[in-house]
Amino acid sequence: MKNMLKEILNESIEALNKADSLEELENLKVKVLGRKGSLTSILRGMKDLSKEERPMMGKYANEIREKIENSLAEKEKILQEKRKEFLLERERIDVTMPGKKAERGNVHPLTKTINEVKSVFIGLGYDVVDGPEVELTYYNFDALNAPKFHPSRDYQDTFYINPEIVLRTQTSPMQARTMEKNAPPLKIIAPGRVYRNDNLDATHSPLFTQMEGLAVGKGISFGDLKGTLTTFCKAIFGEEREVRFRPHNFPFTEPSAEVDISCIVCGGKGCRVCSDTGWIEILGAGMVHPNVLAMAGYDPNEVSGFAFGLEIERTCIPKYGMNAIRAFYENDNRFLEQFK
Ligand code: DAH
Repeated sequence: MKNMLKEILNESIEALNKADSLEELENLKVKVLGRKGSLTSILRGMKDLSKEERPMMGKYANEIREKIENSLAEKEKILQEKRKEFLLERERIDVTMPGKKAERGNVHPLTKTINEVKSVFIGLGYDVVDGPEVELTYYNFDALNAPKFHPSRDYQDTFYINPEIVLRTQTSPMQARTMEKNAPPLKIIAPGRVYRNDNLDATHSPLFTQMEGLAVGKGISFGDLKGTLTTFCKAIFGEEREVRFRPHNFPFTEPSAEVDISCIVCGGKGCRVCSDTGWIEILGAGMVHPNVLAMAGYDPNEVSGFAFGLEIERTCIPKYGMNAIRAFYENDNRFLEQFK
């Protein structure tokens, strides 16, 4: 029995020296010291020894077990240390390495322009209001003095949901909605999307962006309109821009005007962007029609006002020297990245 014990000790030490991982060590432990292990089964045979032999052999067996246990513990420590080093090495972070650069997005040119335009009018004391894109025909046309057979009401121009509801064709309904809810005086702008039954091509889009403006109060004149819009055009397109007002016709204003700026690209000589006219049309505007004031519950004898509407895409185009609306809606990164 003594020899068997010695053999187990030697074999264990040998296997232990070879063991290269904590898993191997654990297996060895089970093989020798476990319930069915080689040492355990020998110890179980002790009961068959004579009374005289038993204490001596018992002591020896315990010594052997202790030796094996100690060696296992020692080796375990070494292997644990080795594993720790391995893990530390694997998880090492080189803080001196250059960082990975995260791609930075940028604000869409339309949003950027809306923000610039807004900030000019906020600076002039205007409030910003928002309203529905799915609009009642009443606000889109009737409340704006558009006659029953006005061409803009045609199915070919307007998306009808039903005879009473349309996708708004302009932000002008916000004039009527705002006046209905608020007493004068007021100054508002209303940016937002509008819809027209056009196919997408270089210069048309079924969806585009407008911004409405409205100022109503006592004694507001066409002079105020000219001053405000001239200030706006110079703030957005540059102090050196010339601004001109041309007579025009809109159902909801009287008198009405269209507002042009001298071409940003050619300075007025004529080029592709201004179709060789030297001028670029930027805004529609006019004095709010007395009918519009009255329908909203205002007294046209007491108050007057001016209104204006601009297309944000058309504002961007001369600003950035572009000639196509389509680019705003195609999400082509090569185009969008130019506005960083
Ligand atoms: N709603 C007009 C359009 O879509 C633009 C416009 C013109 C708005 C004159 C106004 C205005 O407020 O006074 O063409």
